[in-house]
Amino acid sequence: MIIGILNSGGDCPGINAVIEGFVSAAYRRGWRVIGFHDGFEGLLPMEGGRRYEILTPNKTHKIRSLGGTILGTTNTGNFVVQVNKIGHARVDASTMAKAKKTITALGLQALAVIGGNGSARTASLLSEEGLPVISIPKTINNDLCPASDFTFGFQSAVSVVTESIDRIRTTANAHQRIMVIEVMGDQSGWIALHSGISSAADVVLIPEIPFDLQNVVDCVKTRKAAGQREIIVVVAEGARLNGKLITVRNKDNGDERLGGIGNRLCHALEEMTGIEARYCVLGHTQRGGSPCSFDRILGIRFGVEAVKLIEQNRFGCSLVLQGLNVGNIPIAEAIAEPRMVKPDSQMVRTARSLGIIFGDRKPEDLREIKKKES
Ligand code: F6P
Repeated sequence: MIIGILNSGGDCPGINAVIEGFVSAAYRRGWRVIGFHDGFEGLLPMEGGRRYEILTPNKTHKIRSLGGTILGTTNTGNFVVQVNKIGHARVDASTMAKAKKTITALGLQALAVIGGNGSARTASLLSEEGLPVISIPKTINNDLCPASDFTFGFQSAVSVVTESIDRIRTTANAHQRIMVIEVMGDQSGWIALHSGISSAADVVLIPEIPFDLQNVVDCVKTRKAAGQREIIVVVAEGARLNGKLITVRNKDNGDERLGGIGNRLCHALEEMTGIEARYCVLGHTQRGGSPCSFDRILGIRFGVEAVKLIEQNRFGCSLVLQGLNVGNIPIAEAIAEPRMVKPDSQMVRTARSLGIIFGDRKPEDLREIKKKES
């Protein structure tokens, strides 16, 4: 058998672990593996060259500890799915035809696609064209589908944020400052919630729990008045300030990206509390570096399970982690809706019981609740 693998969209720690598990499991079955470069673009012909390589265990042994991806990736290019007015997703017909031609010419009997929802949508279009595709979910945001408990990349990102906040706390304490830390997560608050708990933040602001700035100000003032030297505020990039998403626009191509709420929130808090405040945008440090052990193991498991699905001719499905078990569901189900933080979830209740505030409750309500709970 000859099978292929590619990764598409943003990179994240753990992709190389998936590739290593996939190649190792395939070779143990006597199969060959082709790795395509730079996402789906690797499926397109290139003048005077080729955008793929043969992957062998020698080439991939121990890459599980490497960040990034040995195949390269892109979140732009020819395969960006266009969604028409009635919500039908499609990829340009000639691009699809070229991809099919490459797959047929190489005699590929299966293709594993490592990616987020956008890549999974493209994978499902390839699958609808009759191509044997398996989707392997990937994102640091942990927001892909309600049926999967964790995606690889997420724990590594939370570890980076936690360590960064531990460092930021020392300077905040020295200067008795408010420090606002903006983290990734796209439209979800998973990274902010988990890293807020692990780093003992005072405030966690996430898209799923709308907040009133005055509640945050009241909390900060109360804690400072009680003698707390530093205040740590973790804010997800997709949280809304006064109900508004804060974004940055690329002047050249008009591309609008999430980012900037940390800066705006910092200045608002400084103004409204009279306490010195600074901010830090952790940005792509959350996507870089070597994966933590959890993500290495989960990545390898996804790679190995993808080969098993190919062996069982189970195509058109997406891997998921359910509890401790790697299962699979149809791709269409996996991309139907994002996985968001539930405001009434046990994890949010745990955070509140630690005194973390989400900015959705007034101090008097908090005092009331504290009295009831004590
Ligand atoms: O989707 C993952 C993510 O890291 C988002 O959290 C972030 O906003 C985005 O990718 C950044 O994308 P890029 O690498 O294209 O700047």
